[in-house]
Amino acid sequence: MSNVVLEKVGRNFGEFAAVSEVDLRVNEGEFVTLLGPSGCGKTTTLRMVAGLEQNTAGRISIDNEVVSDAARGIFVPSERRRLGMVFQSYAIWPHMTVFENVAYPLRVRRRPAAEIRELVSKTLSLVEMEGLADRPAPALSGGQQQRVAIARALVFEPKVLLLDEPLSNLDAKLRLQMGDEFRAIQRRLGMTTLYVTHDQSEAMALSDRVVVMDRGRIQQVGAPEEIYRYPTNRTVAAFFGTPNLLDAEVEACARIDARRVRLEVVGQGWRGPCEAADEVQPGQTVTVMVRPEDARIASAGSGVSEQELKWSGRIAQTIFRGPNRSIVIETGNGLFNIDAPAFGNYSVGDNVSVIVAQQAAWAVPSQ
Ligand SMILES: Nc1ncnc2c1ncn2[C@@H]1O[C@H](COP(=O)(O)OP(=O)(O)OP(=O)(O)O)[C@@H](O)[C@H]1O
Ligand SMILES: [Mg+2]
Repeated sequence: MSNVVLEKVGRNFGEFAAVSEVDLRVNEGEFVTLLGPSGCGKTTTLRMVAGLEQNTAGRISIDNEVVSDAARGIFVPSERRRLGMVFQSYAIWPHMTVFENVAYPLRVRRRPAAEIRELVSKTLSLVEMEGLADRPAPALSGGQQQRVAIARALVFEPKVLLLDEPLSNLDAKLRLQMGDEFRAIQRRLGMTTLYVTHDQSEAMALSDRVVVMDRGRIQQVGAPEEIYRYPTNRTVAAFFGTPNLLDAEVEACARIDARRVRLEVVGQGWRGPCEAADEVQPGQTVTVMVRPEDARIASAGSGVSEQELKWSGRIAQTIFRGPNRSIVIETGNGLFNIDAPAFGNYSVGDNVSVIVAQQAAWAVPSQ
């Protein structure tokens, strides 16, 4: 097993900086996901680790060996990096059987026939495809093709696995199932994995750590729970779902513990406590983030405690989503989105209060 280290890695295309100053360490056996909107530089970053793209700045190491250093002119070609790769268009070869597809990387490496047979059958059983070894590739479902692509990436026991949106061709249900299966395989084999997706829920479900990128730069790195709950800025906050982002001015600030402070804030027609990572001077403005699942609807005029925030408003829209109901409330501060129980007693036009606990209101610097 190996680690992957990127130090100040950048890639320019002419004048355009597709990736800038990326510092990242993927530990042995760790599953790290690059997450961000289209065009933010995820694929370019992955391709630089793969050796399919040369970094124009910084240094990349795999297994403590420098494989690319822009300043020193070092560049180890892709085929010598011992990487397994699965790309978005996972193109398995249609003219080959499942067995031959998976055997291909071993044949290229001129392994003996007996070893090929053994490794292929072992890998196929890992992805639960051993029964389909003789199937021609076109006679497979999308999910089965996906497994063949993963088996082909695993068969030569790569040091590191690189995957670029490998599940994007699948429908939602299969994507979930394959994602979970893949994560189980990755854990079992303890493979160091760098994964790319623009799907937040996929990133959260699969990863040990998530790297949120935007416009070529890393915005935040952390465990999924941490990034979701404690985004460092508005870009990261907005990228995970549809949070409510409310502008407010800070009136007071007190430290709670090493990671959080309590702020007293005042917005347009509301005031109350929220939390933030760092001290903020009174008079400064912040953006307070409230996730739709953390807000509760109460009757109009409800009182709140010292540890709660309250907005008054009117229900403008309700959308039934099965497990829950999305409710849009018009407040003096704009629209507020809430995920409420599916079968609550709400109607459009009702006057209500929106109540949020202090620890569910997270303030980030205004941008
Ligand atoms: N060969 C190239 N020449 C010029 N610009 C490029 C080249 N490859 C990528 N870019 C640009 O670099 C930026 C990052 O591209 P990249 O493919 O890394 O994005 P991405 O995060 O993978 O996006 P997506 O989610 O859409 O796949 C984009 O603006 C893209 O147009
Ligand atoms: Mg991409």
